[in-house]
Amino acid sequence: QSTPWTKGGPHIPSGQQQQAPPFSLPISSARIRGPAMRQPREITSFSYDDNRRLHFDDSSLSYFYLLQDDVTASGGIDLSAGYNVFQKRDDTIDEHLDGLLLTLVHLERTTGKKTTGDIITWRGILTKLLCLPYSKNDGFELNAVWFDRQLFIEENLPYKLATQQRSDQRSELMSYWGYKFEQIATIPKPWNDCSRKEIESRGQKPVSNVAQYCSVVKTGLGDVRMVIAGEVDCVWDYKPDPKDNIDDDPKLFDNPLEHYVELKTNRVIQSDRDASTFENKLFRVWAQSFLLGVPKAIVGFRSDQGYLQTFEEFETQKIPGIVKKSKYSNPYTTWDAVDALAFLAACLQWLKTVIPRAEEDVVWTIRYLPRSDYLTVSRTDMPPFLHPDFVQWRSEK
Ligand code: A3P
Ligand code: MG
Ligand code: MG
Repeated sequence: QSTPWTKGGPHIPSGQQQQAPPFSLPISSARIRGPAMRQPREITSFSYDDNRRLHFDDSSLSYFYLLQDDVTASGGIDLSAGYNVFQKRDDTIDEHLDGLLLTLVHLERTTGKKTTGDIITWRGILTKLLCLPYSKNDGFELNAVWFDRQLFIEENLPYKLATQQRSDQRSELMSYWGYKFEQIATIPKPWNDCSRKEIESRGQKPVSNVAQYCSVVKTGLGDVRMVIAGEVDCVWDYKPDPKDNIDDDPKLFDNPLEHYVELKTNRVIQSDRDASTFENKLFRVWAQSFLLGVPKAIVGFRSDQGYLQTFEEFETQKIPGIVKKSKYSNPYTTWDAVDALAFLAACLQWLKTVIPRAEEDVVWTIRYLPRSDYLTVSRTDMPPFLHPDFVQWRSEK
């Protein structure tokens, strides 16, 4: 699956031209062509359970199960139900890249092979960079460190916590609707292994966002090879067992990623303004899903009171076209997938070269200030953030 590359950079009106600081990358001037996205391939997966313990398996994988009739017959499903008993993960705990790195130790121990790749990170970080040319209002800081000839990138959580807006009661509730939708749209096993009771009672337990299923994929953009991990909301039908899979024949290979689904919620669309807001969101869904090779998104549309009214499927690869053709798009902010990928490719290539490779264990900060025109990199005296078990494992080799 290659990306059609065309000429041109992101269409950003770049206001006042600022003086480029040292170690900086202009956000709006990526004009490279040629490098293609490699088709992502899952190399392993892992799960966090309800107590946030890590398992090197698919135990937290969910399966899509929602009938349009269930939604309409009831006059809408109340997504606020159970809000008072929501089991919310403490997102002030800094997990760094731990889940991913411990999974790599497990994988490398089992297979006896080192995971290759230039950049190792969470998918969410690459989503931020991929959307950056079109999304310049929010700042962020990332930490990066070279170790064992690979560049590891994480979010700087203290920066995020210090700068994020305190969420009010309404946004807390709206965020709960997203998790509630995940709960009522999925079951823990394929439907033919579930009893009627298990299916019918799927919305009764308290909603929790502690358990998660994550896929680890190898992918690449231009010359940059990456290993990225990201949460997968559910599978559409089944996940092929890697043991049964013949992966040296592409015709026989049943790619697990092809079976994954991203779930989202959105307000029902009643005005042009709603449609335009939705398209902005849809582009982010594309960015997030495309990076991990997730082919389908299912969007649950809800009322302002949080009642699910209907849901709709979107094919990831069709989203850029939908957004581009839209009559709501504003010519200055129109998202362009090809340009966004050109920027990401330039950005990753730049990070690989601007952060000195010889200086392993030095932590660098990648900084984007809200509404600025540059991404900058600077040296810090922060202690390295890689999990000690990973460092020890790789040092022994
Ligand atoms: P919605 O996006 O459907 O509202 P994801 O879609 O990435 O799997 O995330 C699942 C849900 O987590 C989201 O559902 C939303 O409720 C919540 N969520 C994710 N990122 C968030 C953020 N930055 N702030 C608040 N809630 C967030
Ligand atoms: Mg998710
Ligand atoms: Mg989701």
